[in-house]
Amino acid sequence: MKGLLSFFAKRYIAGEERKDAIGVVRRLNARGILATIDNLGEHVKDLPHAEEAVREYLGLLNDIRDAGVDSTVSLKLSHLGLAISEEIAERNAEVIIKRGLELGNSVTFDMEGSRYTRKTIDIFLGLHERYPNTAIAIQSCLYRSASDVQLLIERGASVRLVKGAYKEPPDIAFPKKRDVDRNFEGLMKSLLLKGKNPAIATHDERLINEAIRFAEENHVSKERFEFQMLLGIKRSLQRRLAESGYRVRAYVPYGPDWLPYMLRRMRERRENLFFVIKNLFD
Ligand code: FDA
Repeated sequence: MKGLLSFFAKRYIAGEERKDAIGVVRRLNARGILATIDNLGEHVKDLPHAEEAVREYLGLLNDIRDAGVDSTVSLKLSHLGLAISEEIAERNAEVIIKRGLELGNSVTFDMEGSRYTRKTIDIFLGLHERYPNTAIAIQSCLYRSASDVQLLIERGASVRLVKGAYKEPPDIAFPKKRDVDRNFEGLMKSLLLKGKNPAIATHDERLINEAIRFAEENHVSKERFEFQMLLGIKRSLQRRLAESGYRVRAYVPYGPDWLPYMLRRMRERRENLFFVIKNLFD
């Protein structure tokens, strides 16, 4: 089982160390693809681990500068102590964002499960007022996201629109995938028309083609938005879009705590689960 898991991890994760992530980004950049690097980790329960994450991000920002690669960073507030307190997570995030600003880099807040949604948005809005080099992921699976997107547009904040990777109850999230997709399309169009440098983060080719069609129809130029995809997924599509002049950014995760991230990726695709089950019984 362990071998099978690490077989999948190799596809979706750059490696265990910062230098692995930088190496992957260098290769992506050579193909015209930008990156955002994420140090894997979540639900940290004690202060020393949250502080260790801050040190890792500061090292990462320095390494991005030293290597001269084109990459932002992405983080999860629960990696920085949100499960301990909002104050600790905010203080830790600010240290990273401040250093990012000094280096001319930017920081995107990932969005986690719904128990953290409101807290993540509140902390983001407070920091965004002082630090324009910040962006936030919003999930189209949640009913609340239409009003969150509206507010973020009004505040001039950059949004990365995703479908949502966490299982959520039907009182707060669309239970049917087709409604999640429909909501994604509506929010995507609002962001393309009124958002600040929105990121359309999906591998769904129908939605990507619709974004291209809608942007052309409404004279939204290619520089005003970007496509984002995860490392290891739809690689040829990433290359094709970049070659056609679109901004494409790959999300590059690294670190030893890769299991929760990888399980989310496996859940998203039935073929992945079938592959594991088949090999377990072979
Ligand atoms: P959908 O699930 O409909 O997939 C469309 C097609 O893409 C599939 O048919 C398949 O071909 C391919 N595909 C999708 N997932 C695959 C996989 N794991 N392996 C192989 N092929 C796959 N979520 C979240 O809750 N918070 C966040 O902060 C982020 N951040 C984030 C950043 C970026 C850059 C991306 C691209 C995605 C995220 N996500 C996320 C994850 C997101 O919510 C969602 O779970 C995945 O992107 C899968 O959904 P799709 O939009 O690709 O559509």
